[in-house]
Amino acid sequence: MAARILGKGQQVPKPDLPAHPFGTEPRASRERYLELHRAAQSVAYPEIDAVEEKLGFAIDRPWMEELALHTQVVVKESSLNYNHGRLLYAALRRYLAGHDGSHVVIFETGTARGFSALCMACALQDAAVPGYIVTVDMLPHERPILWNCIDDHEGPKTRQQLLSAYPELLSRIVFLQGRSDEAVATIGLLRVNFAFLDATHSEVDVRREFEFVSARQRKGDVVILDDVTPAAFPGVVAAVEAIEAGDDYAVERIVASEQRGYAIAKHR
Ligand SMILES: C[S@@+](CC[C@H](N)C(=O)[O-])C[C@H]1O[C@@H](n2cnc3c(N)ncnc32)[C@H](O)[C@@H]1O
Repeated sequence: MAARILGKGQQVPKPDLPAHPFGTEPRASRERYLELHRAAQSVAYPEIDAVEEKLGFAIDRPWMEELALHTQVVVKESSLNYNHGRLLYAALRRYLAGHDGSHVVIFETGTARGFSALCMACALQDAAVPGYIVTVDMLPHERPILWNCIDDHEGPKTRQQLLSAYPELLSRIVFLQGRSDEAVATIGLLRVNFAFLDATHSEVDVRREFEFVSARQRKGDVVILDDVTPAAFPGVVAAVEAIEAGDDYAVERIVASEQRGYAIAKHR
């Protein structure tokens, strides 16, 4: 599939990265990762419940929680919140419900461990719509590393190995390694029906990624932006304000907490 996305002989340049981006030892005990997971699950997000209600679709929560344990439960300073999985699933299912059944192309920046890409692949699968996801991140897909997650207690894994419980969903995802600016300059997508922008959070990068996507969208197509959170990510907020100031997209902002907001931009 990558051959159709990248022209013959083309590659997204590999970025300079430390050999072990998340270190050489697990960052916490298994029990600590499980505790973090329990704590994350105990928080209610009525705004996200309301979005699911409005859109008429909701991801299978036990399925998402199992995926989150391996791909979202990490040691970090900010609190864990992986409700973007619920938002992406509900918004993509709503989009697919009104779609004509033709092939759907989804573009994502910021793969990380693969959580959001898998949630979108699950929506495609559940809707039984043909299509695939192209996702880009600086992190390697095929080099075994520790990921700052519970799986680190089994030793270094490739992302493919980390996600090996989901072979059918993986077959719908093209993982590219590289910087998003170099990816958008290289890959040859003609149409992007749905996109999720969640990589670098600078205004210039988010605007560049958005321009790449919007030039390939039509009426009804969707872009979701994560971290539309003034205190933490002013660059993302400025990029969203620029989209709101234009005529082409209707933007809905969703505030899940003081630390986390999202925007859903729908092509007019
Ligand atoms: C917030 S995480 C993405 C989380 C992911 N969407 C998920 O749901 O699990 C941001 C990711 O963007 C990647 N990233 C940061 N700057 C980037 C860039 N310039 N190009 C590509 N990826 C980048 C980081 O390596 C990191 O994995």
